[in-house]
Amino acid sequence: MSQHPFIYCKGLTKSYHKGSNTVTPLENLDLDVEESSFLALMGPSGSGKTTLLNLVAGIDSPTAGELTIGGTDVARLSRAALTNWRANNVGYIFQLYHLVPILSAFENVELPLLLSRQNRSERRERVMQTLELVGLSDRADHRPTELSGGQEQRVAIARAIVADPRLLVADEPTGDLDRESATQILDLLRMLVRDHGKTIVMVTHDPKAAAAADKTLHLEKGRLAEAPTP
Ligand SMILES: Nc1ncnc2c1ncn2[C@@H]1O[C@H](COP(=O)(O)OP(=O)(O)OP(=O)(O)O)[C@@H](O)[C@H]1O
Ligand SMILES: [Mg+2]
Repeated sequence: MSQHPFIYCKGLTKSYHKGSNTVTPLENLDLDVEESSFLALMGPSGSGKTTLLNLVAGIDSPTAGELTIGGTDVARLSRAALTNWRANNVGYIFQLYHLVPILSAFENVELPLLLSRQNRSERRERVMQTLELVGLSDRADHRPTELSGGQEQRVAIARAIVADPRLLVADEPTGDLDRESATQILDLLRMLVRDHGKTIVMVTHDPKAAAAADKTLHLEKGRLAEAPTP
């Protein structure tokens, strides 16, 4: 068997059925992503960007085609196996952070670890290390409403990486931020690739955000094309 790149999509197709209607946002898509690289995905609204991210993140399964990530045949995992794989291998970062409002920054970051076998003091150490990494150890006790948007997104990134997944997927992570906060978030994502070997797939509408990635691909009607470097 040949050695696949970290993310390997071949003939990837995703259809949704609504009554007698079928929508196919992704059709016969090929994509290779090397480990420890940062890929930006652009494309018009409805072109299938989130659909592709959800397949790569193991939130949804393809209708047809091959999808292998880090040597795991993700397309063929059962629902339960996929959930387990995702918990160990993927961190998801959203445009609107999705922090739990009644929990502190510390407790939000701790959430993914509650499913692990770590005890309380091991969890505490790991959460504080991770908050340190995103530059927010002094905000551990703050609730989301007591943080700026940029800080909320850094807490969300800490939550995404606390269980040490190899893959991070981000859907417009800077879409709701001013330029300065967006730059901080992009610097943080680049650092995670450079110093921690993470692989990142990021959807963005912002060419400046895409410029932070190693490579940009454009999705158009379910097809991918390489973008000229801005
Ligand atoms: N769960 C679903 N059921 C049915 N159709 C869906 C579902 N999810 C997405 N679609 C359809 O698939 C197409 C692609 O949607 P997707 O969310 O991937 O687009 P997108 O590129 O992320 O757009 P945007 O930039 O607006 O976020 C759209 O036509 C959408 O209506
Ligand atoms: Mg989307």
